[in-house]
Amino acid sequence: MLRAAQIVVILLTTSFSLQVLSEEHKVAIASAHPLATAAGFEILAKGGNVFDAAVAVSAALAVVEPFSSGLGGGAYWLLHREKDAFEVLIDGREKAPMAAHKNMYLDKEGKVIDKLSLDGPLSAAIPGMPAGLVHLSKQYGKLPLSESLLPAIRYAQTGFAVGERYLKLLKFREAVIHHYPETAAIFLDKGKLPERFSLLRQPDLAKTLSNLANSGREGFYSGSTADKLVESVNKAGGIWTKNDLESYQIIERKPVTGVYKGLKITSTGSSSSGGVVLIEALNILAGYDLSKMDELTRKHLITEAMRRAYHDRSLYLGDEDFINIPLKRLLSEDYAAGLRSSIRLDKALPSELMSGQIELQTEGLNTTHFSIIDDEGNRVASTLSINFPFGSGFVAEGTGVILNNEMDDFDSYPGATNGYGLIGGIANCIEPGKRMLSSMTPTFLESDTDIAVLGTPGGSRISSMVLLAALDFEKGNGPESWVKVPRYHHQFMPDVIEYEEGALSEPELTSLKSMGHQSKKVRYPYGDMQAVLLNKKTKSLLAASDQRGEGRAVVGK
Ligand code: DON
Repeated sequence: MLRAAQIVVILLTTSFSLQVLSEEHKVAIASAHPLATAAGFEILAKGGNVFDAAVAVSAALAVVEPFSSGLGGGAYWLLHREKDAFEVLIDGREKAPMAAHKNMYLDKEGKVIDKLSLDGPLSAAIPGMPAGLVHLSKQYGKLPLSESLLPAIRYAQTGFAVGERYLKLLKFREAVIHHYPETAAIFLDKGKLPERFSLLRQPDLAKTLSNLANSGREGFYSGSTADKLVESVNKAGGIWTKNDLESYQIIERKPVTGVYKGLKITSTGSSSSGGVVLIEALNILAGYDLSKMDELTRKHLITEAMRRAYHDRSLYLGDEDFINIPLKRLLSEDYAAGLRSSIRLDKALPSELMSGQIELQTEGLNTTHFSIIDDEGNRVASTLSINFPFGSGFVAEGTGVILNNEMDDFDSYPGATNGYGLIGGIANCIEPGKRMLSSMTPTFLESDTDIAVLGTPGGSRISSMVLLAALDFEKGNGPESWVKVPRYHHQFMPDVIEYEEGALSEPELTSLKSMGHQSKKVRYPYGDMQAVLLNKKTKSLLAASDQRGEGRAVVGK
């Protein structure tokens, strides 16, 4: 770690590199970190297309937001190529190692052992991010991976100034980081929390990224990096094998789609619940004219739609390669009409009358998102994660790679709640080689006039945030407004509306209570939405980055 005076140069470099913009096409990029946005433009300036830029932004985020995502984690990349209207979801979600089993986090009495699915290498699933980057670059990019990874490698080698968010999240995970000396040596300053604006250099990570750049997937999933990963994971109590790494494959999936009042929605299906929850909630709401309703009724109905969509999440959703998902039903407008018929305008439906139990929700978690669109309409929405801030807190020796704790997104037993208070059943129980159910919701929205690309971190609240943004888009507002919308959330269990300061007024809270809703103000604002917009006719672009975070949105010419 270096001190504040040494980072002025880095900050200057940041604003300088933002001026290096593609001459061919205008492009809008919104990401959670200025250096990641700059990395995207740097690659565009070298002749890359939006998919190369997505590789550069993803890899840069892995370096400059080591608490959010990384080579030790997973991601979804939703792509649209304009010339042939090709759309695909690259599912780079982590997979359970083959030695994983359904009782692995339970004691002899069948109770969940505290923190076992959250801290240390036993909580880490087999990463998908490196394979996703290789695939994205090879199949859809114009530049070689070795070129697109350069900005990330440079950031890891020369370092960057850590911001408030880094320090806040480091503090949140300080205990587990102290427990693993390799992690502490990288992220702490001689065992203490570093000063704001200290320089964080990650030379081991730079080497691992270079291996990936030079050797493709073999640079991570076999050879010396894989050896180091497997050895140190097992030494510290994990259960990875070389075969787990070698056999990891990304999956190209068909995105899920829906239509809400003329707005086309394209988003994630299995192994994420994101798009299904979003579309099901919108289908329920499609039967109302929200624009003619008072704010209170609007919020009540949106909450009831969330409740029903999250309820189905807990009943039916998991990895479609392992279970049968009644997708047609969940996305059907007729099914939504049935759910709508159980909604009263004056009264909440208690979740316990639907099923399940009430548990408390934890707070203060992390992940990241970026959105890119060019003036032709080529676009990428990508949400990337290692789950909790600094994932499992475990860095495999000599790799600089912080491993995820995504195993916690499984249900440790049917009906168990995870770190987000989400409740799930058999559909999302642990099985060897299975992908754990995600909430990540990278999304495209298309109206007659505009195309939007958006998404956010936020655990279980991701889909409800994208839902509120989609409704705001439908109202006629732009990205600046969507990222600002005061947020509220209902996820079926716990049966409570969680809301940010300002999202529900005092009179609304009183009325909601009398309708049977419980509400709880969250301690901190949540989410870090990144959104871009293309006007189809004028080709003008807009970009916005959530003020709750430290991101940067830029439209370049
Ligand atoms: O895949 C998921 O749904 C979670 N692992 C995402 C975690 C997350 O967004 C935390 N962010 N604040």
